[in-house]
Amino acid sequence: MTVSTCVSIASTHAKSNGRVLIVGALGFIGHFIAEASLSLGRPTYVLLRPGSAFNNNPAKAAILRALQDKGAIVVNGVINEKESMEKVLKEHEIEIVISAVGGPNILDQLILLEAIKSVGTVKRFLPSEFGHDVDRAEPVEPGLTMYEEKRKVRRMVEESGVPYTNICCNSIASWPYYDNTHPSEVIPPLDKFQIYGDGTVKAYFVAGTDIGRLTMKTVDDVRTINKNIHFRPSCNFYNINELASLWEKKIGKTLPRVTITEDHLLAAAAENCIPESVVASFTHDIFIKGCQINFAIDGSNDVEVGNLYPEETFRTLDECFNDFLLKLEDENPEDGNDDDGDGDGDDEAVSAKTHVLEPIPIAAICG
Ligand SMILES: NC(=O)c1ccc[n+]([C@@H]2O[C@H](COP(=O)([O-])OP(=O)(O)OC[C@H]3O[C@@H](n4cnc5c(N)ncnc54)[C@H](OP(=O)(O)O)[C@@H]3O)[C@@H](O)[C@H]2O)c1
Repeated sequence: MTVSTCVSIASTHAKSNGRVLIVGALGFIGHFIAEASLSLGRPTYVLLRPGSAFNNNPAKAAILRALQDKGAIVVNGVINEKESMEKVLKEHEIEIVISAVGGPNILDQLILLEAIKSVGTVKRFLPSEFGHDVDRAEPVEPGLTMYEEKRKVRRMVEESGVPYTNICCNSIASWPYYDNTHPSEVIPPLDKFQIYGDGTVKAYFVAGTDIGRLTMKTVDDVRTINKNIHFRPSCNFYNINELASLWEKKIGKTLPRVTITEDHLLAAAAENCIPESVVASFTHDIFIKGCQINFAIDGSNDVEVGNLYPEETFRTLDECFNDFLLKLEDENPEDGNDDDGDGDGDDEAVSAKTHVLEPIPIAAICG
């Protein structure tokens, strides 16, 4: 490393004890952040709601075990209890707080913010954003309500004087199912593609590991104080027709494409089933209205992550789809059929017909 490189790193990263508290570390986005923090060797504290990992939830218990094996320090608490949060922040001398609470708990962060303000020692707060720029996107309801809550948190954080960074990482790398909150946990389609509108509106797809890794790069970088950090990797800029073709190449077969019209997405949003209708409203915003691409990153508070860290590379969607292929092969070990008809019983194309998709249970509440 040259002397000039060292100087530039020293000047962009503030001095810190490096102690990070992650709220929602057992959640979908939070666990990527916690893993990244631990792999950077940072003292990483994870806030756990009482009983969270153990209430009949083996998946969360496994995430917790993995984080603890890597050195995570568990702290019990909930962010909507001000005094206990003050105690946590003080006792552990936390300097960076990253929140990845989910949609129903966005406003709980206002109490956490009160605690952060009152201890006065937190150098950076990253509220639960991790999606679109909520001041620019305008989804239909019920997605709009979630954005209004995220906007309220933004305004309160701005007023508080606590240094903050908002991560606008766009879509997680996966097939964007319009009725599933965590699409990257589901293998892309094997029977037919549902194409939103004419399938030509583009979006940015980012691997969860890159969301975690690049989020952690921003947390004590002075250039990201009070900024919105946008993730727009040009290598992962796809429309849904292109996404379908990429997956077809992987599985070695062509699948039928069915159009999901704008009206259909709006009707799914209007059913107001939470959380599916929230996802339908975001899907409409992304793939019909183009909410990720209909603005330039030119505001004084906006920075593109690639401009901050030009040396960093993103996992490509092609690589992420290879992961899905491996997952599919793991779930369907040698089925003994000779689907490709070459007589060797060793199919080149993955057998879609033997694959059964396990629906991810989500408790929907419709209003
Ligand atoms: N870009 C994308 O594609 C994408 C996709 C999904 C989500 N997101 C965004 O990412 C953020 C996180 O969403 P998610 O889906 O990852 O959430 P999630 O899976 O529901 O996880 C939320 C986590 O927060 C914890 N939590 C909630 N309320 C809490 C409280 N009061 N005190 C302490 N912990 C609390 C939960 O604890 P328990 O373990 O006890 O439940 C859970 O671990 C949201 O802002 C969401 O909009 C983005």
